[in-house]
Amino acid sequence: MPGDKSASHRALMISALASGRSAITGLSPGLDVAATRRIVVQLGARVDDEGGDVVVVGPEDGLVVASDPLDCANSGTTMRLMAGVVSALAGRHVLVGDESLSARPMDRIARPLEMMGASVRGHGPRVTAPLRIEGSDRLHGVDYHVPVASAQVKSAVLLAGLGADSLTMVEEDVRTRSTTEDMLVLAGVGVQSTDLGEGRVVVLTPGRPRARDWRVPRDPSQAAFFAVLGALHADAQISVLDVDASPERIGFVGVLQRMGAELTLRMDGPTATLLVASSTLTATEIRAEEIPSVDEVPVLAVAAAAASGVSAFRDMGELRLKESDRFSASMRLAAALGCTVWSEDDDFFIEGLAGAEAFETFTLDAGLDHRMVMASAVAGLVGSGCAIGGAECVATSYPGFFDDVAALA
Ligand code: S3P
Repeated sequence: MPGDKSASHRALMISALASGRSAITGLSPGLDVAATRRIVVQLGARVDDEGGDVVVVGPEDGLVVASDPLDCANSGTTMRLMAGVVSALAGRHVLVGDESLSARPMDRIARPLEMMGASVRGHGPRVTAPLRIEGSDRLHGVDYHVPVASAQVKSAVLLAGLGADSLTMVEEDVRTRSTTEDMLVLAGVGVQSTDLGEGRVVVLTPGRPRARDWRVPRDPSQAAFFAVLGALHADAQISVLDVDASPERIGFVGVLQRMGAELTLRMDGPTATLLVASSTLTATEIRAEEIPSVDEVPVLAVAAAAASGVSAFRDMGELRLKESDRFSASMRLAAALGCTVWSEDDDFFIEGLAGAEAFETFTLDAGLDHRMVMASAVAGLVGSGCAIGGAECVATSYPGFFDDVAALA
């Protein structure tokens, strides 16, 4: 399994912000992380491959403004977190992305970053890319309540807060992944997190991260594809090793267990081994808060398509704003498999076919969305095959996906 995408972006950024040498083991090989790597080099860090590791040397005097646009490619994490980083860097920056990224809302980061003293301009009311950011080395700390459950927004504010003149406080109503906070603490930055109901409050003291070595765990959101593949396959037993098992990332495990999956997570320190075997699934109700960031919904829709009964996916509005409109795409995928599907506002429903052997052969265009490629592939593999348009975009997060799947078979 590839290294966790979230931790990989942050390892590159935090190391680049520090002074001196940090070695990263297990960096994600995906194109999203490659975009972050190119950008930290543009901003003055040195990045080299050394053996299997990636070594970052952050400039002693700090990052510098790049004259060329910073190309975030397909990566929302790169654009939103980098917007935070460059907001604290005096000068003009331009952030661009591909067609998918240029349609995604950036107002969610523009607002808090402007409150802190940066200027963030984009297109239209949703402030879409290209983003023009005027950074400042005199940002103010902010007290910000994130209005949507988003680890990327929280992280953009915290990264900008590193260079502010006072404390930054971020409040979220749903606890999203704490990768930024956890890694900043490891790099010696003062970050305090307090749970508050279902959410949390994070307080960051400005400061420069210290260089250190990182070991990136494997990506739980990728493990989810193998969890569903193993559960739906007629004769499977799959172990996924060294998976990041932080609570905000493994909500999909509870969902699949509730559906009856033969699935266990064996904790081994901070990471876990995920074990899955052929299962018979029944429908369930899934709320977005159970799987903050909703990355695993497309493949859970495939699980629902193979279950008996009607599964309800509730409060899934954020799905429309991902690399593609995954709300429609997940429904389209289940419909292509032969399911009856419908939606009401931000909820959608899938009537399962009581077994993946009932899946129809299908063709689906993945539309620049790596997770739609992998969810479709899982459905095709356990059903009767499929043709996926645009499948090469799997390389966004998991270039070796098809090789790894072929190795299992
Ligand atoms: C990510 C946060 C999530 C997720 C994305 C990675 C991150 O987005 O979808 O793949 O690394 O912070 P949200 O900002 O919606 O939580």
